[in-house]
Parts: sequence; C-alpha cells; structure tokens
Amino acid sequence: MTEIIVIVALATNNCIGKDNDIPWRIKKDFQHFKDKTLGFPCIMGQRTYESLPDGARPLPGRENIVLTFDKEWSEKGITIMHDFNEAINYVKNKGIEKAFITGGASIYKLGLEVADKLELTRVHKTVDGDVFFPEIDFSKFEKIESRDDSEGEFTFTFETYKRKND
Ligand SMILES: NC(=O)c1ccc[n+]([C@@H]2O[C@H](COP(=O)([O-])OP(=O)(O)OC[C@H]3O[C@@H](n4cnc5c(N)ncnc54)[C@H](OP(=O)(O)O)[C@@H]3O)[C@@H](O)[C@H]2O)c1
Repeated sequence: MTEIIVIVALATNNCIGKDNDIPWRIKKDFQHFKDKTLGFPCIMGQRTYESLPDGARPLPGRENIVLTFDKEWSEKGITIMHDFNEAINYVKNKGIEKAFITGGASIYKLGLEVADKLELTRVHKTVDGDVFFPEIDFSKFEKIESRDDSEGEFTFTFETYKRKND
C-alpha cells in the first residue's frame, strides 16, 4: 500500500506562504524536506511548482506531479494532472512505498482527507503571509515523533503524526 504523506512547514499562526514564497529561510528544514521526499513523487499545486527556486524546479530526483485546472498548460520534465483524486490513484497504482503532498493550501486541504501520515515542521513564530495551512483534525491523528531544533533566529519542531486506526 502506498503511504500518502502531507509534508509542510507552518508558523504558529498556520502561515505557510507569502508572495508565492516561503516566509522564512531555514536550511535545516529544506534539508529535512529533501531527506524525506527524495526518490518519491511529490504532488503539488501549480503555484507551489512555480514558486520553486531555479535549480529546484522541478524538484530533482522526484517525480513532480503538478495540479492545474488549465488543460492548455504544459511544462517539460513533470507530470501534469487536473484532478486531485486522479493524482492519488496514479501514485497508488505505481505500487510504490510512499508519495508526498507538498502544497499549497487547497492541495493540503484535500491531502488531509487522505493522508496516512503528516510531517509537520512547526516554526515557533507568528509571521505575516497570505497562504495558511488548513485546520488539522487532531482527533484523527496521533503524534509518533517529535524533535526540537533551531537555526539562527528560528526555533522549530519536526513532528510526525500517523492516522489513527478507525
Ligand atoms: N511552508 C510550506 O511548507 C509550503 C509548502 C508549499 C507551498 N508553500 C507556499 O504556498 C504558496 C502556494 O500555495 P497556494 O495555496 O497559493 O497555491 P497552490 O495550492 O500551490 O496552487 C494553486 C493552483 O493549483 C491548481 N489547483 C488547485 N487545486 C486543484 C485541483 N483540485 N485540481 C487541479 N488543480 C488544482 C490551480 O492551478 P491553475 O490556476 O493553474 O488552474 C490553482 O490555482 C506559496 O507561497 C508557497 O511558497 C509553502
């Protein structure tokens, strides 16, 4: 069974983005994202794809599955899909170990409904921004790992949750 994992870095106020960028630069979190996702498909919205920096677009070493409603949009080196469930079925039919949901807001909202696991980087700061992570129903998830870390002005916690059995 392919494990579906939501991975995100979110501020104390649930902010995840500002001006189509991430509102902080935390190298340890970029490394964490790479360590977790390398080798596995990443499902993302078109804006998140466009926000990736030069050299990391597409994310190397990972199948980039980009969702757009625009049937005319095309881009080399990625897999384009127009329906979230189609993307989930696509990765599940590959028979791979896991696949990641890597944002943004509306894709995360759909992702929380199907995720087996959540990889949250909790950045312990309230930040200004324009994109926010949707509310998590923690009655459905249990925390299985937690690790505190820091870098420069930032303190953060890497948390892993898994879906509770029904
Ligand atoms: N902190 C983090 O961990 C993190 C992670 C990811 C992203 N971000 C930030 O989040 C922001 C981008 O997120 P966003 O919420 O603005 O945009 P987004 O979710 O990345 O992309 C939105 C676009 O995705 C397409 N889309 C959305 N739902 C779809 C569906 N169900 N089926 C098909 N296509 C669909 C549409 O593209 P079309 O308009 O082309 O139809 C839509 O305009 C940036 O600031 C980025 O830096 C932060």
